[in-house]
Amino acid sequence: ESTPVPEPPGLPFLGWNVSEIDPRCPLKSLKSLADKYGEIYRLNLPTGPLVVLSSHQLVDEACDEKRFIKLPDSALKEIRDAVHDGLFTAFIDEENWGIAHRVLVPAFGPVSIRGMFDEMRDIAGQLAMKWARYGNTPIMVTDDFTRLALDTLALCSMDYRFNSFYKPEMHPFVEAMGDFLVEAGNRSRRPAVASWFYSKENQKYYEDIETLRKTADEVLQERKANPSDRKDLMGAMLNGVDSRTGKKMTDQSITDNLITFLIAGHETTSGLLSFTFAQLLKHPEVYRKAQEEVDNVIGKGQITVDHLSKLPYLNAILREVLRLDAPIPAFGVHAKEDMLLAGKYPITANDRLLLLLSKSHLDPTVYGDDADQFKPERMLDENFEKLPRNGWKPFGNGARGCIGRPFAWQEALLAIAMLLQNFNFVMDRYDGDIKQTLTIKPDEFYMRAMLRDGMT
Ligand code: HEM
Repeated sequence: ESTPVPEPPGLPFLGWNVSEIDPRCPLKSLKSLADKYGEIYRLNLPTGPLVVLSSHQLVDEACDEKRFIKLPDSALKEIRDAVHDGLFTAFIDEENWGIAHRVLVPAFGPVSIRGMFDEMRDIAGQLAMKWARYGNTPIMVTDDFTRLALDTLALCSMDYRFNSFYKPEMHPFVEAMGDFLVEAGNRSRRPAVASWFYSKENQKYYEDIETLRKTADEVLQERKANPSDRKDLMGAMLNGVDSRTGKKMTDQSITDNLITFLIAGHETTSGLLSFTFAQLLKHPEVYRKAQEEVDNVIGKGQITVDHLSKLPYLNAILREVLRLDAPIPAFGVHAKEDMLLAGKYPITANDRLLLLLSKSHLDPTVYGDDADQFKPERMLDENFEKLPRNGWKPFGNGARGCIGRPFAWQEALLAIAMLLQNFNFVMDRYDGDIKQTLTIKPDEFYMRAMLRDGMT
């Protein structure tokens, strides 16, 4: 028995539902269409059909890697202009994905991430020093967390310092990356022919790509000329041999992946940290308990890597933030063949299925009637472990899930612990709006930081 997938009516003469989508924040439109049409609907966009899944049941089904596959399309296809078959943007059957995946999984594992703790603390300390000097001036929260994430990634992946906290203007690499990502997003929303009318943008786009690749490649060549036994990601990529093929990563693939880590890791981690502070300031009781945990476990001394495994409440806060405000609020897959979804909705292999976490993370069958409320207690280990399969997917799925998760987790826990240990924060202004680029972040969120009793 098949049930047709609802299709919001489009513009009559084009058959495109483009008028449904707010280009500044497509996520808002996708969510309100889900409120109107339910757990599944299809939009016929100029770039192809998009089927949006919003219930836990449908998301769970689309996470079956035997029947569904990630095909890097939309903005990811554009990003391939800069990083080709790097991990994030590769098709899974491209040989370089397999080699890089097998070489890098251990390099991103818990043991090597622990080894990066001191460098992560170095950069987090720079952020704390900057805020200590701010006095009562409002802090542009997302900008400073973006500096933190970028500097941490560059130091831990390739021993390179952007020194973003010491300069008012951003490093040219950082500037180029920001502009490149915005333009990649714009290109993915334009029909191909329209690009003829954007020659100035195109020129800048390829110049930015050149800046990214030249910088990363210079750092790589420098390391090759001066070998070191540093245990960073670059070292793992230079020395690692793929157990299956016996091959090493090529220089081109190393450069692709160095840039990939910076792209995949900076806005996401910065978004997580920013949303965390927005939620803490909105929920004083949670804030108080979080600071109490930091004071009890760490006290006034220097934070060590062993402290981080003893912060269950902060862990639960991060999980709950990622449930309600996943920085990557949706990810895409394709069915390997035409089929009925949930045994009733006909979909084709040509449909791009979008797993809309901003909705599936609110499914009352998983999270109950208070699903829209911020309650970290529901994410304490004993509850978290009982969540149904695929009930919480902020890091994506399966083999194509986030390789940087332990990296991001350690960095975020450390930063939050250090900031709560040293400061009291108050909201300056935030009206709850989000800004969407490839990821989402709080828009126009400012807070103030007051030193507690002397820095540690
Ligand atoms: C993949 C989320 C941090 C590197 C993904 C995906 C998600 C995600 C949802 C899957 C995307 C898809 O299916 O198309 C996040 C979040 C982060 C975070 C929420 C922070 C809170 C990081 C960091 C790094 C990183 C710090 C690098 C150091 C990657 C890579 C992939 C990936 C390389 C592609 C993996 C593959 O397909 O082989 N991430 N990420 N991410 N992430 Fe993350």
